[in-house]
Amino acid sequence: MPNAPKPNVKQDSLLVLGLESSCDETAASVLRRHADGSIDLLSNIVASQDEEHRPFGGVVPEIAARAHMRKLDPIIGKAIKTAGVDWNAIDGIAATAGPGLIGGVITGLMGAKGLAMSLGKPLIAVNHLEGHALSPRLTEECPFPYLLLLVSGGHSQLLSVRGLGEYERLGSTVDDAAGEAFDKTAKVMGLGFPGGPQVQAWAERGNPEGVKLPRPMIGRDHADFSFAGLKTAVARAWEASDQSDTAKADIAASFQRAITDAMIDRVGRAMTLFRNVTSEHDRARLVVAGGVAANTELRASLKQIAEARNFDFIAPPLKFCGDNAAMIALAGAERLAAGLIDDYNAPARPRWPLDGEAAKSAPKSGYGKKGPKS
Ligand code: KG4
Ligand code: ZN
Repeated sequence: MPNAPKPNVKQDSLLVLGLESSCDETAASVLRRHADGSIDLLSNIVASQDEEHRPFGGVVPEIAARAHMRKLDPIIGKAIKTAGVDWNAIDGIAATAGPGLIGGVITGLMGAKGLAMSLGKPLIAVNHLEGHALSPRLTEECPFPYLLLLVSGGHSQLLSVRGLGEYERLGSTVDDAAGEAFDKTAKVMGLGFPGGPQVQAWAERGNPEGVKLPRPMIGRDHADFSFAGLKTAVARAWEASDQSDTAKADIAASFQRAITDAMIDRVGRAMTLFRNVTSEHDRARLVVAGGVAANTELRASLKQIAEARNFDFIAPPLKFCGDNAAMIALAGAERLAAGLIDDYNAPARPRWPLDGEAAKSAPKSGYGKKGPKS
């Protein structure tokens, strides 16, 4: 196998193609990063697989891998064409190398390797979570350090983001991910897939005080989350209800309020921990990322707590909250600019914690198990 070329980091700007295929979105994006850190997003193509997975009420890994195989090539072609760039002008190829559903990750990473090798360009194997973590920098100046609430279908974490590749986990879920709780709530009530947007739409018509639900972990002195009990309580409330549209709306609204309250309480705790690990002279920033960051009630509540605790609040536009390749191209470009490239034999990794070894330590809450969702 040929060695990956050394990157030319002295360039004024770097043009990077990014690929994303770790879950159920096949995506490609071309982005130019200037030496001052500013970016031009030249294309951002996302093909959702919602239609393929809808009949099953959740993402089916085998179907996802086959769909990525089918969609990746045309999506890459479209991203290059939309960007109006020549293949030779590309300075590096970035792809999600994990964590995620391994069939999809392999598809995207192998595609990136093939392109990088045949063009003689550097490969950047990007951690999907780093993509989410940097996503606010696609549209806003968002200097390090910042406190990040990363909430998606696969992960729920609170991280201190100190720099590229420098992450400290302040808290994480001990069971389900937040997006999973939304998806399962939707599934129990037959609201459709993907669950988050459906729950939000039903919640708009419901009474958030209508059904009494738990707020797991509230008041604890660590910043871990737990969502499994809330999910079970929702299933019980649904079984006990008359299963009318009013019940659907009330349970959706009550669930959304409960999970938001639980997340805000944990964010409040993490703000204190974050202040302890950053300089008091730093302007504190709170950033939210991941698919669940699209939730309107969560965004409004985060804005409120940020104002109350004197943090700036940054939330990416909705199109950059869910999985996309622009965030992978950005992480790739930032890595390339820092001279951080990967071998052409970089592995695809189903598990890949952002905070490395530290991720293996026991949850601060003292119970639960650190799994792929944490
Ligand atoms: O980041 P993402 O696209 O994929 C993963 O990396 O997991 O997140 C997908 C998750 C799903 O669980 C979906 O239901 C949730 O984000 N989601 C939402 C909303 N939009 C998407 N959850 C709550 N409210 C929303 N508006
Ligand atoms: Zn994601």
